[in-house]
Amino acid sequence: MAEAKFLMCAFCMIIVIAKCQQEGDGHRSETVSGVGVNWGLLATNPLDPSIVVNMLKDNGIKRVKIFDTDPWILGAFTGTDIELMVGIPNDQLKKLSHSMDFAKDWVKHNVSKHMHDGGVKIRYVSVGNEAFLKSYNGSYIKTTFPAMQNIQTALDKAGFGDKIKVTTALNADVYESSSDKPSGGNFRADIHDVMKQIVQFLDERKSPFLVNIYPFLSLYQNEDFPQDYAFFDSSSRTINDNNHQYTNVFEANFDTLVWSLKKVGHPDVSIMVGEIGWPTDGDKRANLNNAKRFYNGFLKKMASKKGSPLRPGPMNVYLFSLVDENLKSVLPGNFERHWGIFRYDGKPKFSIDLSGRGEDKMPIGAKGVRYLENKWCVLRKEVKNMSEVYGAVSYACALGDCTSLGTGCSCSNLDVAGNTSFSFNQFFQMNEQSVEACDFNGLATIVTQDPSHKGCSFPIEIYSGGTMLKGVIHLGGLFIWFVLIFTTFI
Ligand SMILES: *[C@@H]1O[C@H](CO)[C@@H](O)[C@H](O)[C@H]1NC(C)=O
Ligand SMILES: *[C@@H]1O[C@H](CO)[C@@H](O)[C@H](O)[C@H]1NC(C)=O
Ligand SMILES: *[C@@H]1O[C@H](CO)[C@@H](O)[C@H](O)[C@H]1NC(C)=O
Ligand SMILES: *[C@@H]1O[C@H](CO)[C@@H](O)[C@H](O)[C@H]1NC(C)=O
Repeated sequence: MAEAKFLMCAFCMIIVIAKCQQEGDGHRSETVSGVGVNWGLLATNPLDPSIVVNMLKDNGIKRVKIFDTDPWILGAFTGTDIELMVGIPNDQLKKLSHSMDFAKDWVKHNVSKHMHDGGVKIRYVSVGNEAFLKSYNGSYIKTTFPAMQNIQTALDKAGFGDKIKVTTALNADVYESSSDKPSGGNFRADIHDVMKQIVQFLDERKSPFLVNIYPFLSLYQNEDFPQDYAFFDSSSRTINDNNHQYTNVFEANFDTLVWSLKKVGHPDVSIMVGEIGWPTDGDKRANLNNAKRFYNGFLKKMASKKGSPLRPGPMNVYLFSLVDENLKSVLPGNFERHWGIFRYDGKPKFSIDLSGRGEDKMPIGAKGVRYLENKWCVLRKEVKNMSEVYGAVSYACALGDCTSLGTGCSCSNLDVAGNTSFSFNQFFQMNEQSVEACDFNGLATIVTQDPSHKGCSFPIEIYSGGTMLKGVIHLGGLFIWFVLIFTTFI
């Protein structure tokens, strides 16, 4: 009798396990090969890395670029087959350029310990991030290349010289064209010598040239820029250059780099696009429709493997970016906090077919995200004299994120009471919904009804860490075990 029950229960268990696995694997998607994503963590409460890694797997994303070597992040990639590009922040370049010991230490602590069997698939190290941006006034021109060389030597000594490529993510402003055509391309005069050295190094080591290309910025920085030329679905503007036709700024920009490489005598260096994407808020041209149009055209292009006129064939690119980051600097523009294909909480924002087949479908969102309570902070109804709220709004917006309130943005249609509430809520959420963060001299109050309306979302913050949820799942599993074992013995 007991034996029969045990068998039955064992049978139940197998069904339960099979069902769970089915649910886990049921809705996997595909991403065009060669297309990866950037994942940054400049957010008040970043998504838990294990949740993000599951989301990447669900969407078939196999290549990820991150900006440092945070063990919290790398740990989540352990044992996965996702290829990683890790980064070294610019503030480390000076030390790394001066000291071989420091470079060896960096490799030991940040790379070697993850490279065991079943560890993390680190394949690239980007030494510095856009270190030659004009706005840095040349601060990193002397240190970037020596730092790259030291990291390469350290990797060689640690035995990873063949497996891990060293490069540096550069902004597309390291080259320019003298003629508005790709064939006029060459590296910027002030960094020409160091670029030549870097390119020679990349060529010798068979490492990729890593460049960030932003058609959105072409449009943002120039009111007269022909809008269609930023996308991939129109030939309303065509540039002819030595019998090559360019119908979009991406290919023209890419081939300007190809020409620049030729002119310094290294025409065959491979090129990877380190960042490319379109933001969804914070500017009148940063919206869901434009992002959808951009990605749709770009991903179809990636799937077609046509490449550019001068470099036909498949390309390697990293989309920018996976999720929104509400702590990014807005110096370049308010759109900076809205680059995510997914929202801050891992919910998809617009339809995007990562497989490049151009289907109208949503990507798979993050699972198991835990939110704070359903509470929002808003302006008290009784407040009628709006000149009283001005100071409070300035305060809330100086600390919280009000980048959705500007002209042409998702919350620009709110009236004064509405945008005051929006700013209060942003501040309240970033302070983990603490009661003191919803006071503003008695002007504010906490409500439990969602004040969001018409495309303007009043977000609720998420928990960062997610360990409790894992506990619940484990406990859930244990509970099933207990029930089974219990029923076996009665
Ligand atoms: C990475 O390397 C630097 C330099 O040695 C070290 O200070 C830092 O702690 C390392 N990071 C990790 C996560 O081990
Ligand atoms: C670059 O120079 C400008 C003007 O001199 C200055 O405002 C800015 O802070 C400098 N930036 C850096 C990163 O040094
Ligand atoms: C509104 O508030 C401002 C600033 O506190 C004050 O100067 C003004 O007199 C008030 N107006 C009314 C109509 O109460
Ligand atoms: C709120 O809306 C009013 C009226 O449209 C506008 O004048 C004000 O600048 C807005 N405030 C913010 C912070 O966007």
